[in-house]
Amino acid sequence: MSTPDTKVTLEKLVALCKRRGFVYQSAEIYGGLNGVYDFGHLGSLLKQNLRSAWLRSLETVTPEIIMLEGALLGPQEVWEASGHVANFNDPMVDCLNCKKRYRTDEIDLEKACPSCGKKSWTAIRQFNMMFKTNLGAAAELATTAYLRPETAQAIFVNFKNVISTTRVKIPFGIAQIGKAFRNEITPKQFLFRMREFEQMEVEFFCKGQDALHWFKTWCDARLAFYASIGINPDKVHLRAHEKDELSHYSSDTSDVEYQFPFGWKELEGIAYRGNFDLTQHTKHSGKDLAVFDEETKSSYIPHVVECSVGVDRLFLTTLFDAYHEDVMEDETRIVLRFSPKIAPIKAAFMPLTKKQTEPMMKLYNAIRANGIMVQFDESGSIGKRYRRQDEIGTPLCLTYDFDTEQDNCVTVRNRDTTKQERINIDQLENYLLQYIK
Ligand code: GAP
Repeated sequence: MSTPDTKVTLEKLVALCKRRGFVYQSAEIYGGLNGVYDFGHLGSLLKQNLRSAWLRSLETVTPEIIMLEGALLGPQEVWEASGHVANFNDPMVDCLNCKKRYRTDEIDLEKACPSCGKKSWTAIRQFNMMFKTNLGAAAELATTAYLRPETAQAIFVNFKNVISTTRVKIPFGIAQIGKAFRNEITPKQFLFRMREFEQMEVEFFCKGQDALHWFKTWCDARLAFYASIGINPDKVHLRAHEKDELSHYSSDTSDVEYQFPFGWKELEGIAYRGNFDLTQHTKHSGKDLAVFDEETKSSYIPHVVECSVGVDRLFLTTLFDAYHEDVMEDETRIVLRFSPKIAPIKAAFMPLTKKQTEPMMKLYNAIRANGIMVQFDESGSIGKRYRRQDEIGTPLCLTYDFDTEQDNCVTVRNRDTTKQERINIDQLENYLLQYIK
């Protein structure tokens, strides 16, 4: 096997995701919905592993993490208080000739439209990216609501509930995983910019004087997280925002960026939000969201450090990072070198003959019953089965072969080295568990 070639393109990944059932264009049989995707078996498993790894990583910073699952719909008041109604805009222009719409940061307005070659722009307009809807059947009773554009606000509006129903004390975090919706003007680059996506956010509440310490702690912890799930550290860095890039709520933000084939782009935002959100919700709701400090015997509104990453964007990152084309002796294989921690399937069980199917199925069921995600793969030549498993990133392939009856061992083939070793069936579960860790 020669040195791996990592010339991955977006087109290759999209094709692999479709071919192997990671991701499908949503409503594809009706022509598809732009910026909206469905996840197949392997995609769902990979997402689940990313969520679990993220949750575990929070515990490395502080055990004081409270979970929340907020509603997807929020009333107008929430989004007015958060500033999204006034500020969550992208500037856009239309081409008067071909009617194509662009975000102004995507094109040079001094030049002609990249689509039709004419230079005929509308004035720049602000486009609010929230999806607006009405609650209630009768139009006159309808109440305006919005699909949430970020999960964070559910955390802020439940801050008092969390404090009063748990024994948690500042500093602590509230974490949430859930869907968010943005009416992106131009969804693009597959899962990078979607209209319906999922976020993993932690809002960490602390005293104002400790905020910079926690900001730094979280920046370090987030980089450690990406290394822990096997992402190449050379392709990840932190980039501090310039003052003119900061969101309306933030006084300090660093992005974790990944080197995608289309450039260094944001993977996660780490923002010092001051006490903007709780102050705004105090003003707009009229409810006191301050906490009492036993040391100073006074009340204050906590400050917040936020870490926010998109599950789908992380999914795309792990695919780009894992994708390799290895030139073998007589062919090129596509292999996803996922860390075993996040690989959707941990091991494939491959009987070599019909006679071996039954005993191997027994072994497979025993391992599966203990919660390890494995796959039974009996169709096609062994070479074809290896290629199939390489392409979905399965770290280990097990064959139950001619010697098994004699020595009670299976052959375990390693995805990355393609080396094989014999493992006693009695040790197999332990072996797999160690490998996945
Ligand atoms: N609460 C802060 C917040 O939402 P953001 O930078 O707008 O900040 C955080 O979003 C993360 O959510 C991004 O770093 C990205 O990973 C993901 N994200 C944002 N918009 C997205 C989109 N349209 N499609 C996919 N992921 C997106």
